[in-house]
Amino acid sequence: MPPIGIWYILNRIARDEVVHMRIMNVVGARPNFIKIASLMRAYSDFPAIEPILVHTGQHYDARMSKVLFSQLGIPKPDINLGVGSASHAVQTAEIMKAFEPVVLKWSPHVVLVVGDVNSTVACGLVAVKLGVRLVHVEAGLRSFDRSMPEEINRLLTDAISDLLFCTEKAAVENLRSEGVSAEKIYLVGNTMIDTLLKNKAKADSSRILEELALASGDYAVLTLHRPANVDNPAVFGRILDALEVIQRDLPIVFPLHPRTKAKLANSHLATRLNGFRNTRLTPPLAYLDFVKLMSEARIVLTDSGGIQEETTILKVPCLTLRDNTERPVTVEIGSNHIVGTQPDIILAVYRKVMSGQCREPQTPPLWDGLAAQRIVKILLEKL
Ligand code: UD1
Repeated sequence: MPPIGIWYILNRIARDEVVHMRIMNVVGARPNFIKIASLMRAYSDFPAIEPILVHTGQHYDARMSKVLFSQLGIPKPDINLGVGSASHAVQTAEIMKAFEPVVLKWSPHVVLVVGDVNSTVACGLVAVKLGVRLVHVEAGLRSFDRSMPEEINRLLTDAISDLLFCTEKAAVENLRSEGVSAEKIYLVGNTMIDTLLKNKAKADSSRILEELALASGDYAVLTLHRPANVDNPAVFGRILDALEVIQRDLPIVFPLHPRTKAKLANSHLATRLNGFRNTRLTPPLAYLDFVKLMSEARIVLTDSGGIQEETTILKVPCLTLRDNTERPVTVEIGSNHIVGTQPDIILAVYRKVMSGQCREPQTPPLWDGLAAQRIVKILLEKL
């Protein structure tokens, strides 16, 4: 007997082709691929949903893009806009110019965008101007720091979306206080965590620790790519002051984001970093290797958004090298500490964590691996 319930009934309706929905899904940058993977899988239970995948080409290096598609089983994009890197204005404009004819040609019922990158806002604007309903996954997050390009992308995308799916309660509250009506907002959990939970067992068999000659629980992982940190040599230099001390204590593995690599090229900071004997620079790592690396680390230092969430689920302490976070649940109940970029504060919190003075992290509500299924169910009900 199949289970009786809304999920089953909706599935039946979809199979009977009463519902036919063409959903155009947009991805552009590395974190988008991780977020879309679980949605693409959830759609496949509904033959009457026709998912179309558009890759804007914002991230194009094989290590930032193609490797994730193959590791996460994401279907090959139906369309690649091939836009690549440029200034914010040029990149956003080029994505819009390339995306508009695609929407006109394919006539989707819905455009779905994820996260907060330039591709998100660019494709969102194109969709609403053509009268296509817009869905935003990971809506409502706010750092309240408008110098971050992602904050502008979040505010604009949320302002024009028809349905807004949130990962945490604070995001719902932010949207409500901005005047978004309650019936557009859904707290559904986190599709990035869906992907993490689905792939954790596979990641466990990665050989990355052996490859990098690391002992489980006895190293730190560092990632840095925010313009506020890596485009400003004074700030980057301050972070290096703290890292210099930490790496005397604990080996640091530092997979270099292309932006960071470019900023370091020919700078005095590169010479300094290369002089850190216990710091290992690597290219961007494949997803499964990076999950393994995080899960066995003693501590993670980062300015990424997604890594604050992933370390919360992996229960690994995370020091966020920023003055704020748009993901407050990771601090309130997770393993995240906001430490800014002043070396004395970074080191004080580092020592506190290393001496075991922090509470056991909790799993945020609905971060259970089922967010994508909730989203698809709501899309079928509402649209
Ligand atoms: C983008 C997102 C950021 C996200 C990050 C994840 C925006 C505004 N920012 O930042 O929110 O956290 O992706 O990685 O959308 N480059 C390459 N190869 C690539 C991609 C980029 O070499 O495959 C280089 C280019 O020189 C480029 C620079 O990295 O100029 C920055 O890339 P871009 O996509 O503009 O922003 P990110 O810093 O990656």
